[in-house]
Amino acid sequence: MRDRYGPWALVAGASAGLGAAFARRLAGHGLDLVLVARRAEPLAELAGSLPVHAVPVAADLATAGGLDAVAAATAGREIGLVVANAAYSPIGPFVTQDPAHTARAIDLNCHAPLWLAHRFLPAMAERRRGGFIVMSSLAGQQGSPGIATYAGTKAFGMVFAEALWYELRGSGVDVLACVAGAVATPGLAASKSRRAPGTRTPEQVVDAALGGLGRGPRVVPGALMRVSSAVMTRLLPRRTAIATIARAASDLESPDNAI
Ligand SMILES: NC(=O)c1ccc[n+]([C@@H]2O[C@H](COP(=O)([O-])OP(=O)(O)OC[C@H]3O[C@@H](n4cnc5c(N)ncnc54)[C@H](OP(=O)(O)O)[C@@H]3O)[C@@H](O)[C@H]2O)c1
Repeated sequence: MRDRYGPWALVAGASAGLGAAFARRLAGHGLDLVLVARRAEPLAELAGSLPVHAVPVAADLATAGGLDAVAAATAGREIGLVVANAAYSPIGPFVTQDPAHTARAIDLNCHAPLWLAHRFLPAMAERRRGGFIVMSSLAGQQGSPGIATYAGTKAFGMVFAEALWYELRGSGVDVLACVAGAVATPGLAASKSRRAPGTRTPEQVVDAALGGLGRGPRVVPGALMRVSSAVMTRLLPRRTAIATIARAASDLESPDNAI
């Protein structure tokens, strides 16, 4: 893993949930880590607990200043793997939402992965080795009422990563969209009162993503989630798929979390 995707991996959104699980797994594989999120304390705690070099970078990836901080922290470090994982989901009917919040979702969920790809993929392509994982969601496979903007950003991440997978296949650089269903993270716990059937642990999703890297354009972690994905995209009429997701998302609560 370190030979193929090291020596440094960058995890965006590493202070909790899936990002922290990616960090722990990658450290277990011996990769040194640049860990990015806004909250300095959990980042420093995580960095201190890992058996590798880990550099915490407290930065808001939805801002130009945050991206500058990532550029500064990674200068001179060979980043062989990027996990574009940080996300924000404004929840509720679109017409009631603050345009500043939906714009932030675009900045964090779309612009930051795009920026990371521009920043790190050319050097990986030149070295002819590396990896780039974009965390997407089943919510991005069809219109998802109640989380319309988030779903649109997750659709962007999925199709963006799939296209990069094709462009870079054979170059030694592996790109993957990880299209997750429900994952038991603090983000999901804060936004959903009920646990959906088939909910995965962060570790299961991370293992599916790292196991799928280099094997194809995308993974959907979990057998039930794969069935659900196939039913929603291939069997149901579009309007039924949208209505089904609307029902599934009807218990979303927090206005402020990634799901
Ligand atoms: N959980 C699920 O059910 C689920 C399902 C499908 C897909 N996903 C995807 O998986 C990814 C991770 O989800 P999660 O549930 O682990 O989320 P989470 O528990 O809410 O954690 C989000 C992480 O992103 C960081 N973050 C948030 N805003 C940031 C910003 N502006 N700049 C930098 N870092 C920021 C957070 O740290 P700070 O607060 O310290 O910044 C945290 O480390 C997301 O892309 C999400 O769309 C999750």
